Amino acid sequence: MTADIDWEALRRTAINAAQSAYCPYSRLQVGAAALVRGADGQLRVITGCNVENASYGLGACAEVTMAGQLHLSGGGALVAVACRSGAGELLMPCGRCRQVIYEFGGPSLLVDTPEGPRDMTWVLPAAFGPEFLPT
Ligand code: THU
Repeated sequence: MTADIDWEALRRTAINAAQSAYCPYSRLQVGAAALVRGADGQLRVITGCNVENASYGLGACAEVTMAGQLHLSGGGALVAVACRSGAGELLMPCGRCRQVIYEFGGPSLLVDTPEGPRDMTWVLPAAFGPEFLPT
């Protein structure tokens, strides 16, 4: 499965998405790109970019806007995620965003890391998930 993922294309897509960032405060353009498997089994690629606000704490990370795009484009499960700056540097999802992407990819979701692609058990060990909620 890992071998089937075109990581270079996903990284380029993330860098391209970062060009759309609204980041006048941090000046860090962030792009996220994900390979998604839709409910119909079809693979597609979605993206997100960070969108900041003058009220700094209201800024949205690229992974969060990508989660919106996941659902706006039909839903499904995240298979692989790459995050890059507009300049092309690899960026790891922040702690909050690790939880956000875990919601839609679970433990088998692969993330591009400085060590290469790793699954979410590496990126977010001992993760909190819906199984901890009362039924
Ligand atoms: N940022 C993201 O978009 N994703 C992350 O996982 C880390 C941080 C954004 C938020 C803010 O707009 C800028 O990067 C600087 O923190």
